[in-house]
Amino acid sequence: MVDLNTLFKAADWQTEKHAPAIDIDKEEDPKGIKIKVMVGKEIAHPNTTAHHIAWIDCYFLPEGENFAVHVGKAEFNAHGASAQGADTSTLYTRPAVSFVLNTEKSGTVIAFSYCNIHGLWQSEQEVTVE
Ligand code: FE2
Repeated sequence: MVDLNTLFKAADWQTEKHAPAIDIDKEEDPKGIKIKVMVGKEIAHPNTTAHHIAWIDCYFLPEGENFAVHVGKAEFNAHGASAQGADTSTLYTRPAVSFVLNTEKSGTVIAFSYCNIHGLWQSEQEVTVE
């Protein structure tokens, strides 16, 4: 069986352009969190027909629990292609997405991203909800 820890690379998003950056804003009423996930926040990742971020997937693991909850997934499908060929349209989806999660539980936000050349990446961010 494949060890998933070897498939999902992890690194500091400030120095590795593939690692998702997670920003959290807390909400009080109703209690919740706004989650923004972006790849290439500090160091831009290429976004071309041949080399791009295809999707970001986000989960929340409540503190003390064993099963993560799937928050949502975003796919990015505009990579510059048009009927004239690769990288001709000037239209490119930036790999960034926002989710809002109502939660009265603290926990860990986990984000995964996928580069079509460099594979799977992950980041996580702890969140305290009081
Ligand atoms: Fe890449």
